[in-house]
Amino acid sequence: MNYFRFPHSMKTSHTKMRNPSFLSSFFFLLLLSHKVSCDYHCSPIKASDVDRVQFAMNLEFLEAEFFLRGSLGQGLDSIAPYLAQGGPPPVGGVKADLDPVTRRIIEEFGYQEVGHLGAIYTRVGGIRRPLLNLSAQNFETIFNEAVGYKLQPPFNPYSNTVNYLLASYLIPYVGLVGYVGTIPYLETYNSKSLVASLLGVESGQDAVLRALLYAHADEKVEPYDMTVAEFTGRLSGLRNVLAMCGLKDEGIMVPKELGAENRTTSNVLSADEYSLSYSRTPPEILRIIYGSGSEYKPGGFYPDGGNGRIAQSFLKKD
Ligand SMILES: *[C@@H]1O[C@H](CO)[C@@H](O)[C@H](O)[C@H]1NC(C)=O
Ligand SMILES: *[C@@H]1O[C@H](CO)[C@@H](O)[C@H](O)[C@H]1NC(C)=O
Repeated sequence: MNYFRFPHSMKTSHTKMRNPSFLSSFFFLLLLSHKVSCDYHCSPIKASDVDRVQFAMNLEFLEAEFFLRGSLGQGLDSIAPYLAQGGPPPVGGVKADLDPVTRRIIEEFGYQEVGHLGAIYTRVGGIRRPLLNLSAQNFETIFNEAVGYKLQPPFNPYSNTVNYLLASYLIPYVGLVGYVGTIPYLETYNSKSLVASLLGVESGQDAVLRALLYAHADEKVEPYDMTVAEFTGRLSGLRNVLAMCGLKDEGIMVPKELGAENRTTSNVLSADEYSLSYSRTPPEILRIIYGSGSEYKPGGFYPDGGNGRIAQSFLKKD
């Protein structure tokens, strides 16, 4: 089951480990310490509805810029500059070499994100667009981290359709699990209805991207010696490690124990044993999108950190 080799897999597979001989005391210790850090790192935070909804704008900005630039070659500043609220333009982010069908899908997603930003801006008020790092080098760093070695030639998200879809695999899923985690803590009808509707489209985007990738699951991502499915497993594994809250992210092919009702190796949608969506807290999300494993340490897509009260509260404590 090559496609399920998560990096540091002992950290993520504890719920499914079946071979007792594998559970040496060393691994027990690891699992125990993981469980402790998990409890500490994974508890809910206190925040107002407005702060929670504005927190999501950090991700919506990332999606808008990546999808608009990837499909059209221009971003928010050419389409709805007021939404950026004076935030700096992203670094990198160019038109990708996409096939015509994918290009139209990504363009639609890009404009959908403009709608999402507009809806939040109108209904609860906006935040400044944070500095975003959409450079090919940033994706290259993430992909190297995920596979555990330096890919040669360097991974370029913009060079073809499959690469762009793999890079996109990184993006709406984090928003989706964030929205699933947010809704139970919202107080007002207005914020619940807004976030439920954002979640609907976000999960649709994730599903489309994953289904497009699934159609190529067994194909090698040229020129690397790794399939599309293996890449998704590695990228999901990296996110599980960075977030430090167990298994909440699965590639497009899995061992049956992780498939729907323990019966499928296809895993077009990432979900738990009851096929319910996983959820994540804002600190988990920051650990992933900063690429640092720490909500206090910006980097990755957000060199200067996220905006809004929740993301900023962690930056100030440093
Ligand atoms: C973007 O990411 C790349 C790769 O990590 C890095 O070299 C570059 O300095 C980053 N840009 C900014 C503005 O942080
Ligand atoms: C799937 O397998 C797990 C053990 O790995 C078990 O706890 C669970 O009940 C099984 N689910 C179904 C629907 O068979």
